[in-house]
Amino acid sequence: MSYHRLAVAAAKAAGRLLGGFNRRDLAVSYKGAVNIVTEADRQAERLITTMIRKAYPRHIIIGEEGGETVPALSAAREPVWFVDPLDGTTNFAHGFPFYCVSIGVEADGRVVVGVVYDPVRRELFSAIQGKGAFCNGRRLRVSATEKLDQGLLVTGFAYNIRTSLRNNIGHFSHFSVRCRGVRRTGSAALDLCYVADGRLDGFWEMNLWPWDTAAGSLIVEEAGGRMSGFDGRSYQLRVPELVASNGRIHEEMVDVLRLGDQVDPQMVQKKLQAEAAERA
Ligand code: IPD
Ligand code: CA
Ligand code: CA
Repeated sequence: MSYHRLAVAAAKAAGRLLGGFNRRDLAVSYKGAVNIVTEADRQAERLITTMIRKAYPRHIIIGEEGGETVPALSAAREPVWFVDPLDGTTNFAHGFPFYCVSIGVEADGRVVVGVVYDPVRRELFSAIQGKGAFCNGRRLRVSATEKLDQGLLVTGFAYNIRTSLRNNIGHFSHFSVRCRGVRRTGSAALDLCYVADGRLDGFWEMNLWPWDTAAGSLIVEEAGGRMSGFDGRSYQLRVPELVASNGRIHEEMVDVLRLGDQVDPQMVQKKLQAEAAERA
């Protein structure tokens, strides 16, 4: 079976399994103060891993819940399958219907296949390197938005939000006053697919792992979008900070990120002045 067909079959099977859980009976444990993992994450990962192992016993599988270390790019002699069995665990556990299964395959140092399955909407996003990106058979194309000012963006916050000073709140404040809106959906893999489909114009985040982004990054690129690091240089799967966009607003996004992750004092001042004026 081709990598693509196997990734699609595994993502759909895991999606069906997730749909069978009743969130009210879900066993939840903590990986950190706000970082939870459920029985659904573990079972979905086991299912996907078993399917891949059966077809490609020598391949490397890096699943979020598997505890394996991400191999350095140069060290991976066999294809690497990056698996997020449930991207959006917090949403899933709360019954907020925005989560997915994400599977990306890296071979010879490049992501060659990406599959993201949203079992709630039954949307299957997928891409094969050089062959375009699709959602349920429909070709994906990024938006034509020209200016950041007209863009709808999305981001996310890592689980160290309470403990790290670099927690994205500054970037969030900078972008919020420079575009039409910033969404926080809780699933980075779907965020990337929504950029690929032009539902959103740009995405950035600071602490992501290859299992979050391998599939989505290929889907964005194959839909004509642009991926990069925060400095605008070429995107590296193993670097946790990334920007994805329709390409047209990319430089503007990188300029905003250059302002750094401190809350914008000018914005705070303006807000205070506006509130004082309202009270007067
Ligand atoms: C998380 C989601 C979220 C992002 C976090 C990720 P998980 O993945 O993608 O949108 O903001 O950084 O860790 O834990 O739900 O698989
Ligand atoms: Ca994830
Ligand atoms: Ca996950």
